[in-house]
Amino acid sequence: MKHLLTTRDLRYADAVQILDTADQMAAVSSRAVKKLPALRGRTVVNLFFEDSTRTRISFETAAKRLSADVINFSAKGSSVSKGESLKDTAQTLMAMSADAVVIRHASSGAPQQLAGSGWIDAAVVNAGDGKHEHPTQALLDAMTLRRVRSRATGTATTGMDLEGMHVVVVGDVLHSRVARSNVWLLSTLGARVTLVAPPTLVPVATDDWPCEIGYDLDEALAQAPDAVMMLRLQRERMNAAFFPSEAEYTRGWGLTAQRVQRLEAMGAPTVFMHPGPMNRGLEISSEAADSPRSTVLEQVSNGVSVRMAVLFRLLSGDESTPATNAANEN
Ligand code: CP
Repeated sequence: MKHLLTTRDLRYADAVQILDTADQMAAVSSRAVKKLPALRGRTVVNLFFEDSTRTRISFETAAKRLSADVINFSAKGSSVSKGESLKDTAQTLMAMSADAVVIRHASSGAPQQLAGSGWIDAAVVNAGDGKHEHPTQALLDAMTLRRVRSRATGTATTGMDLEGMHVVVVGDVLHSRVARSNVWLLSTLGARVTLVAPPTLVPVATDDWPCEIGYDLDEALAQAPDAVMMLRLQRERMNAAFFPSEAEYTRGWGLTAQRVQRLEAMGAPTVFMHPGPMNRGLEISSEAADSPRSTVLEQVSNGVSVRMAVLFRLLSGDESTPATNAANEN
């Protein structure tokens, strides 16, 4: 594996191996000394053309926990405002000897362009491109679901997939790279995925997507899924004539306090996921976001471990999990 661009192309064995490595990395992160020397001398560039809190900071944390050097680039305040192109920006950063480029871009396909153009000779990691994919988000969601299953069954996560789990993904599927990456990865790992959205927020071309599509959230929740993953309503990618209105959206597709109470009354096992940032009171109520069933902050923690695993896999050239014993500490 030279790059991580999509989950659509990620093989089952590679996905499980990255998740197993992420579990090892989580053990490192829980120690007093949170560092491994695995990527000492390597340089990771975070190339962010769109805003981010979780993804950018967790890639930086992940690289530093593996002892890599990190260069953070944000388009805001850079020479991009003077018209510098993606190619020239990337090649400028490569001249500072980058081994990996983590890129977030508003244009779908920008990471593929960087990886396939021959402009740079570095591993490329897609940190979210337009409406296309966000593969490390899906991997951290899969890591969270493995842990949910492990807690419920008392079995170890190592080698675990998501066979038989039912995940309902709700909301603005049309604009969501998180939904796309999760559809591909969760189904590769054996989960049943149901997308639920207003008809105006379902993409037209979903014929080859390995999932079910529905429009009624209450019908989907009545099946007591293992997880309900709420998507952020991406108002910045919508025009003013958006339908439904925000009030209609919350009534029909929000994880409201009433829906939380109904799941409680049913005794459903359902956990509440959200990639963040959340629009509280719109797609998710505070009752859901702050509930003991919420995995929102666990997802953030797992993001560091998954990104450590991905950087380790791409930059060390080692497909096995790293030695994480105390003898290897800095
Ligand atoms: N989930 C996610 O991508 O969050 P950020 O936009 O804060 O990185």
